[in-house]
Amino acid sequence: MDSRNHSLADFNKVEDADIMQRARLFKEFSDDLVEKRHAQYRRVSLDGSAPVMKVKDQYTGEVREMVYLASNDYLNLTKHPRTIAAGKAALEKYGSGAGSVPLLGGTLDLHIELEQKVAKFKGCESAIIYTSGFGSNCGTLLSMLGENDIAILDMLVHASIIDGCKNTNQKFFRHNDMSSLEHVLSKVKDKYRTKLIVVDGVYSMDGDIAQLDRIVELARAYGAYVMVDEAHASGVIGETGRGTPQHFNIEGKVDIVAGTFSKALGAVGGFIAAKGELVELLHFYSRPYMFSTAMTPQSAGSLIAAMEVIEDEPQLREDLWRNITYFRENLLNLGFNLGNSQTAIFPIIIGDDLKVKEISRRLHEMDIYVNPVVYPAVPKKLARIRMSIMSAHTKEHLDKALNALEIVGKEYNII
Ligand SMILES: Cc1ncc(COP(=O)(O)O)c(C=O)c1O
Repeated sequence: MDSRNHSLADFNKVEDADIMQRARLFKEFSDDLVEKRHAQYRRVSLDGSAPVMKVKDQYTGEVREMVYLASNDYLNLTKHPRTIAAGKAALEKYGSGAGSVPLLGGTLDLHIELEQKVAKFKGCESAIIYTSGFGSNCGTLLSMLGENDIAILDMLVHASIIDGCKNTNQKFFRHNDMSSLEHVLSKVKDKYRTKLIVVDGVYSMDGDIAQLDRIVELARAYGAYVMVDEAHASGVIGETGRGTPQHFNIEGKVDIVAGTFSKALGAVGGFIAAKGELVELLHFYSRPYMFSTAMTPQSAGSLIAAMEVIEDEPQLREDLWRNITYFRENLLNLGFNLGNSQTAIFPIIIGDDLKVKEISRRLHEMDIYVNPVVYPAVPKKLARIRMSIMSAHTKEHLDKALNALEIVGKEYNII
C-alpha cells in the first residue's frame, strides 16, 4: 500500500472488514509510513522530557540528541529538583500506589492537599482530581449532560470534550468567533435544560487564546454556563500563571475550570475546579473518578511541589515568555505562517500532508524534534508542523531549530 494515497481516516471504519482484517490493512499503511520514513510517531526517549532529549532513532537504532520542540512540559517541572524530591518523599512514605478508588479508601491526605491547592490556584470553591486529563473532561461532561441538555462547543475543542458530549445534544460554533457563538446561543435559547458552552483556554493545535471574557458575557446574557479547559493555559498565561480567567481578569466568574496536570505542571492527571456542590456531585456520578484508582502518591507529591514552584519561581514563566517572543519573531521574520498562535504552541501551517511528512522527516534527520499534524487531526488545507517550546530552551537551542527550519522552509518552498 502506498501511504501517500491514504490517511488515518481511511482506517477508522473499513466497509465489510472485521476488526482483525481492518488491523491488517492498517498495518500495511503504517509499514509503508515507516518505509518512507514518514512515521514520526512513538519515537522513544531515553531520558524523558528535556529541551534537548536523547531519542533512539526508529530507523537506524542510533541515539540522537534532539532539540525537543514537542513537549507540553512548558516550565520543565518534570525535572525540577523540588518536584523530584517531593515525589520521592511521597513514594517512600505512602508506597507506589493509592491502593483503591478515591471513594473507597484510596483518598490520601496528599490528594486533599492537592485539591485545595488547585481550588485556590483557580479561584474556585473546590476541586476534584483525576488520574488523567482526558478522563477528567470526559467523565465530568458525561455525568453532567444528558438528552435534555446541550453542549455548545468551539469547533476546535479537545477530543476529550467531544467524547464527553456523546450522550447529549451538541452544537458547534466557528473557532473563537463570537458572532457564531451568539448565533448558536440565540437558536437554542429556551430549548434545553442545561446549556453549557465548552472551550479550551489555549487551543492545543493552534496556540491561540479563547475570548473567555466575551464568552462569559454571552453566556450570562443567554442563560448558559461556561466550562474552560485550561490544559495549555495553566502555568503559562495570566499574570501569575493561573490561566485564562486570570489573563482576562475574570477569576471566579467561570462556572467550571478544567485542566490537566500533565503539561506545565509536569506530571499526570486532571482536575475540575468549581462550586463545592458541583464537585460533591462529581464525587458520586463521574465514573472515571468513582471507578478508577486514585492518583499515585508520587504524582500527588510532585504536583503539590509543582504548584508551589509556579508560585515561588515566576522566573520560569518569564524565561518561557522570553523564548516565546524570540522564537515567534524569528519565525515570522523568516516568513512562516503561524496562524493565530499567541502562546508557547507554534503551528507552521503548510496545507499539504505530504510536505508536512517530508519536512518532519528532514527535521528529524537534522536532530530537530517536531510533530507532523495532518488530516484528519486537522483539515487537509491546514496540515501543519506543530512545535512547542519550554522555559529551559536556550537561545542556542532555538537558533539551531530556526536554522534547520529556514533550510527546510526554502527546500519545500513554504517561505
Ligand atoms: C486541551 C487538552 N485537554 C485535555 C487533554 C488531556 O489531558 P491528559 O493528557 O492529561 O489526559 C489534552 C492533552 O493531552 C489537551 O491538549
